[in-house]
Amino acid sequence: MIHRSLMLAAALGLTGIIAMAQEKVPINQVEEKVPPYTLPDPLQFSDGSSVSSPNDWVRRRRELLRLFEAHVYGTIPTGLTRRSPSPVSIRSDSLNGLAIRKILQVPLTDEPSPVLMELMVYLPKNATSAVPIFLGLNFSGNHTVTPETDVPLSRGWLPKSATGATNHIATEASRGTDSAAWPIEQILARGYGFATAHYADIEPDFDGGWRKGVRGRALSGHTRSGFAPEDWGAISAWSWGLSRAFDALAEDPLIDSKRVALLGHSRLGKTALWAGARDPRFALVIVNESGEGGAALARREFGETILRITTSFPHWFCGRFKNYSRAAETLPTDQHELIALIAPRPVYIASAQEDLWADPKGEYLAGWHATPVYQLLGLQGLPSASMPTLNSSVGDAVGYHIRSGKHALTAIDWGHYLNFADRHLNH
Ligand code: GCU
Repeated sequence: MIHRSLMLAAALGLTGIIAMAQEKVPINQVEEKVPPYTLPDPLQFSDGSSVSSPNDWVRRRRELLRLFEAHVYGTIPTGLTRRSPSPVSIRSDSLNGLAIRKILQVPLTDEPSPVLMELMVYLPKNATSAVPIFLGLNFSGNHTVTPETDVPLSRGWLPKSATGATNHIATEASRGTDSAAWPIEQILARGYGFATAHYADIEPDFDGGWRKGVRGRALSGHTRSGFAPEDWGAISAWSWGLSRAFDALAEDPLIDSKRVALLGHSRLGKTALWAGARDPRFALVIVNESGEGGAALARREFGETILRITTSFPHWFCGRFKNYSRAAETLPTDQHELIALIAPRPVYIASAQEDLWADPKGEYLAGWHATPVYQLLGLQGLPSASMPTLNSSVGDAVGYHIRSGKHALTAIDWGHYLNFADRHLNH
């Protein structure tokens, strides 16, 4: 028996084994088949007592943060480096004179050749005072986000499927390939700055990628052989990188650090939500189609599940999260509570109609079930338990829309985000 499975493993290789394991994970995408579930109450302490004042919420917030660390994303070690960024280049005539463009290197580890995150910042040239800014990690390198051809190609690891990647390395063919997701000129024209970095600068996105990223190297002189159940996963590492990007932006007098809006798509939406929950310096958080492990309720059995995500992406979460693969109902948290951790700061959740994998209804309901926390703090969240019509934006301190179409970050989504930011950042 052992011999046969070893032979099978050798024949299939690692990718084959993962694909086989994934096939066995059942996925429901039929609304009528969603089993009933009961969510934990964000306004109840673990000991059963109720959270009935804004002061109580401060304590409950701490308790929830700790639960998300211990059971879902893992704990970020303390005492990691916070070194100042150094400029790589500054151009004051960027985008045909519309923008100032700065490229900064942010050292993430304390070593002779540290892990470096390259932060690209665009600021509107005509600004008369410090500007609010959108910050978001990108999937394939800063050079894929901008039409400008003098931005250095990312040196970060890329998945094989990335456009213009050869052996996981970016090539000239990948320039601008993701620019539709990041309408930089539109953002600048509305008076905002825009900052981005390649997420793989912080840690390459594969199981074992930690060896080359901050998780493996942040603790200098320490050789990691593995992780304890509560140790940080890759989402925590990327979210920690976002806080380091914030530190770098806060040093720039042209940027208003009280008005930094964080935005992420898909796995980077999960990352943005966790970063925004942990780091209250982010003034506003936007999560685009973040799905399982992001805005979508884990207990709602629709689309991707804990079992599937921890099978396909074992490195994203802390080790303990796998224990809930077949027992979501025993998880001490659910994702509406992650959204509530942003309160009283505004949070925007977005879905796409055809993105059933991410469970649009589960994303909406998470915002709805976070609403009582906003109400306790004197704010309004989402208006009703029913989803809004397609392409209309609803809600106040919790915003939501569902766009027609597929899983993507588009100009239509950005239209809603800019309006939401205008409203909440007094811009
Ligand atoms: C996969 C994964 C999702 C994730 C997405 C992405 O589809 O299952 O959880 O959000 O990749 O990041 O693109």
